[in-house]
Amino acid sequence: MSNLPVGIFDSGIGGTSIFKELHALLPNENFIYLADSKNAPYGNKSKEEIIQLSIKNTELLIEKGCKLIVIACNTATTNAISYLRENYPIPFIGIEPAIKPAALNTKSKAIGILATKGTLSSQLFHKTTDLYANGVKVVEKIGEGIVHLIETGQIESNEMKALLKTYMEPMVKENIDYLVLGCTHYPYLIPMLKNMLPEHVKIIDSGLAVAKQTKAILESKNLLNDSEIKPTIELYTNGNINVLNSILEHQFPTNYLDF
Ligand code: SIN
Repeated sequence: MSNLPVGIFDSGIGGTSIFKELHALLPNENFIYLADSKNAPYGNKSKEEIIQLSIKNTELLIEKGCKLIVIACNTATTNAISYLRENYPIPFIGIEPAIKPAALNTKSKAIGILATKGTLSSQLFHKTTDLYANGVKVVEKIGEGIVHLIETGQIESNEMKALLKTYMEPMVKENIDYLVLGCTHYPYLIPMLKNMLPEHVKIIDSGLAVAKQTKAILESKNLLNDSEIKPTIELYTNGNINVLNSILEHQFPTNYLDF
């Protein structure tokens, strides 16, 4: 058993959607979250840059004593998780677009995926799509501009609505019945997406699945925290602390840290 913290990092505040699922499922764990908002978005960076940023975040979390790291960013997972697993001794949990359940359950044989350029062009994404989406039309859209608007506190702006409309229209035309959210920033857009998609379209994000997998790995490695001391939560951003606080609805302690 270990009372060391679970580390989480993301290119910014989007991974808080994963943090919330983790905290709900594992309320006895200590958590440290890094929002690398200064370097957001990761989605348009080269694989090498994404690996370097992931190394920086990982080393800071390891310095802070983390026993496991959740990479709460699709772009960092698809580009850097193999490198991190090969080079650091602790377990890493990643997040990938949930292509498999969408492809297995679609009735219209068309699914949509909204993700960053870095995720959609990664080998891991192509491998998953080839494996599970045989005979299914996968309508891919790069969510250009979305992460920037979320990181600058403009979730419900007219600009966001217009962007989402542009990305959803071709998917609706292709009669998708599942929309896969391939970026941890995007779950915050679900209410808006529901308003613009036909009612039967199901929206899938991977947050709960990642939380369940994290719990399973902690259990299997005998790393769950069974201490009776009240767990601590530390959230750090190198960007705008007000935006982080507002997405967390001011429910958790946050700090500015230059990393
Ligand atoms: C980004 O930083 O571009 C998005 C993060 C993600 O892919 O989850």
